[in-house]
Amino acid sequence: MKILLLGSGGREHALAWKIAQSPRVEKLYIAPGNAGSNAVGENVNIQATDFEAIAAFALQEQVSIVVVGPEDPLVKGIYDYFRNRADLRQIAVVGPSAKGAELEGSKEFAKGFMMRHNIPTARYKSITSNNLEEGYAFLESLEAPYVLKADGLCAGKGVLILPTLAEAKKELKDMLGGMFGSASSTVVIEEFLSGIECSVFVLTDGEHYKVLPVAKDYKRIGEGDTGLNTGGMGSVTPVPFADEEYMEKVRTRIIEPTINGLIEEKITYKGFIFLGLIRVKGEPMMIEYNVRMGDPETESVVLRIQSDFVDLLEGVAEGNLHEKTLVMDPRTAGCVILVSGGYPEDYEKGFPISGLEQAAATDSIIFHAGTTVKDGQVVTDGGRVIAVCSYGETKEEALAKSYEVADKIQFEKKYFRHDIGFDL
Ligand code: AMP
Ligand code: GLY
Repeated sequence: MKILLLGSGGREHALAWKIAQSPRVEKLYIAPGNAGSNAVGENVNIQATDFEAIAAFALQEQVSIVVVGPEDPLVKGIYDYFRNRADLRQIAVVGPSAKGAELEGSKEFAKGFMMRHNIPTARYKSITSNNLEEGYAFLESLEAPYVLKADGLCAGKGVLILPTLAEAKKELKDMLGGMFGSASSTVVIEEFLSGIECSVFVLTDGEHYKVLPVAKDYKRIGEGDTGLNTGGMGSVTPVPFADEEYMEKVRTRIIEPTINGLIEEKITYKGFIFLGLIRVKGEPMMIEYNVRMGDPETESVVLRIQSDFVDLLEGVAEGNLHEKTLVMDPRTAGCVILVSGGYPEDYEKGFPISGLEQAAATDSIIFHAGTTVKDGQVVTDGGRVIAVCSYGETKEEALAKSYEVADKIQFEKKYFRHDIGFDL
């Protein structure tokens, strides 16, 4: 069969690498992909939100399954676009409907959903400029620090954590005043939860589900989890504290109420659900839903999926995911992200990348994130540039291998964190 994967980051190269291993795949296309994905499939120069061009290409090439990597096309309704056009009905889309994608696209919707289905999460209040005073009062009822979330998508920048009440009130007013455009015309104020986070990935056909390997990502730019938030600087799987007892709580209190809630609310959802969890006094609480896989968690997670991934995706498409098996590799996988100097603020692009061949000769796996080919040379093309991923019997072993290979890959102003996995 032919598969079309949408997206262009490290997550998509990792998914492409895994999909391409399946003997069922006759042809894999990645739109638009990056310099790495083109080595495991064929890049197609179409943006992931250009539905018309995606549909035309899928029809022309007789694609059976479209796998959606990033959230943008999902929130914009790519699932519904395919379902509503008679000529596209035979093409399966792995991803939720636009209504399901609201779990990520609207923080207010997500919190309401958690409330309706008794899913444990932080106390909150949803505020617009019409009830600003209520927002101030709610902030006064909370203890520092204060969490403010823009309701809509802000490319990972819409969450502010503020140390004082005065700053929280000022930022609330500024957010409602358009700090993130219309994405912050509604702001969710949340109680701050203190604990350790992990990412749980669920694949569902809308009725049955499989829990993929649990991972932890490292979002801050600086070592010891300091400095600005990034898209993610590294990841590790498995997560020792997400043991059998913890995961049983996650299944019964979060995953099953989520799947049942979607069914009850008649929300079509055939894709990945990313549960951003925090452990508070031993108990899992929801921080957020995302409606896609995590990046850079995926880069580690795919290493630990032994089963044919395409078989699982077909289970999603056909609604028989319960008949499929998911076998996981017992080893640890650890991934280190090499970024452009200056990221997550301003950085330059276009620097030649060397050492990729030496890296490929090791037993680490290299995924490209922000790369492109210019005049036959692979060059940097984003903030996050390369993911170096390795297996190990322990996380120390896996990460030591990734660090050794990270040193072999060179580009001007390369930066990476040396402490991925430090808190596990
Ligand atoms: P989000 O975009 O919702 O993932 O939020 C970004 C990050 O902010 C999360 O990964 C957490 O580290 C942090 N965060 C979000 N909500 C809370 C909360 N209620 N309490 C503590 N930390 C939070
Ligand atoms: N690693 C977090 C995310 O993908 O949003």
